[in-house]
Formats: sequence, structure tokens, C-alpha cells
Amino acid sequence: MEAVPTPFLASLVSELERHPVNSNAFFETFHARVLTRPQLRTFVRQYHYFCKHFVKELEGLLYRTPVEQVDMRIELIKTLHSELGSGNPQRAHIRLLNNFAKSLDLDEVELDRTVPIPEVVAYLRLLHRLFIESDHLTALGAEMAVEVTAASEFRYLYPGLRQYTCFNEDALMFFKLHLNEEQSHSAWLIDAVQRTANTPEDYHRVATGARETADGWQQFWSGLYREVLDAADARSE
Ligand SMILES: [Fe+2]
Repeated sequence: MEAVPTPFLASLVSELERHPVNSNAFFETFHARVLTRPQLRTFVRQYHYFCKHFVKELEGLLYRTPVEQVDMRIELIKTLHSELGSGNPQRAHIRLLNNFAKSLDLDEVELDRTVPIPEVVAYLRLLHRLFIESDHLTALGAEMAVEVTAASEFRYLYPGLRQYTCFNEDALMFFKLHLNEEQSHSAWLIDAVQRTANTPEDYHRVATGARETADGWQQFWSGLYREVLDAADARSE
């Protein structure tokens, strides 16, 4: 089978890398400013809620991928395996994020009480529709966009969090590790598109899923900006 002409894929990846979400106001401000403890707690609650539910949507996408799409399933499995600490339970991403939350005195019981803001709910719903209810090429484009745009978030969040003396290197492991891991996830998903999309019509579906996802991701961070950074320091958290 013929692969997607590389210029189309390269231009879509470059469009995703240049998407404004990669340097949005939340990232810039989080990196530049020292946040209060209540602000950090609000951030981790919403971000944790998203991460916890996102991985189940990704598992749903794997389930929904046709069995014949071996290349796509292989790349999704690699990504999920990496999410689960590549087989090391202590390195499972959700455990590392729980460790970070603990340094803000948020345990799992407390985190489960989080009420997501509308933008977090909307983005998870969008991913559910694209991953689970669309065709596998739209879904693949959506997941490629998630991974390509995820790389930049850690370039702001990790150095931003290193400013605080209350977090040791162990607490920040989730953020540090994603600096490198997102590069691999992104490469795997680009490979999956290269091997799975064969025609201009296929490519169109991939691009549609990818663009909608990057725009939704931007809305997600606008919501976090309002909830975390616009909020008064006196928030009752
Ligand atoms: Fe992760």
C-alpha cells in the first residue's frame, strides 16, 4: 500500500507545532509567575482529572481501532505501555502525578472529589467523540495532535515548577520525564499516520481530527487560565 505523501504529513505536523496552543497564555504565565499554593492546588486538581480520564479514552481508542490496522495498534500500544511506566508500576504516569499532588497535600480521595471545570469536560467529550465515535483515521489524527502538541506543555510546566522549594526532584518526576517521553509518543503517532493513511481522503480525515483536537486543547488551557490564574489568591482551596 502506498503511504501518505510525506509533504502532506510534514505540513500537518508543522501546522500543529505552530498552533498557538503551544505557547498559550497559561503556559507563559505559569512559567513566569510564582503561584500561590491554592492556585497550584487548583491547577493540579484539574490537570489530574484530565490525565486520569484521558488515558481511558486512549484505551477506548485502541479498542475501537479495527483489528486489521496493525501498524496503528502497535503505536497506540507503545504509547499506552509508556503511560504505564513501561511496565514499572512506580513509574506509571498516574502514580507520578499522584506523587506530585501529595506534595500539595492532595491525596487520591481528595483528588477524586475534584469537580472539573466546563473546559476540561468539553475537551474530554471532544476526545471521546473523536477517539471512540469517529472513524479510525479521524481518531488517529486526533491522537497524533494530542501527542505533537503535548511536547510544549512540559517545556513551560517543568521549569515553572522548579521555582518552588516545596517540590523536590521526586515530586516533579512526572513533568521531567514527559520532557523526553512526549518526543517519542509524537514520533510513534506520526509513524502510525504515515503507515495507516493511504489516500488524500484518508489524509483529510487525519487532518480534520488533528485540527479539531488542537483547537480543543487551546480551549482547555483558556479554561485553566481563568480558573487558576485569574482567580483571587483568597480562593478557599
Ligand atoms: Fe503521560
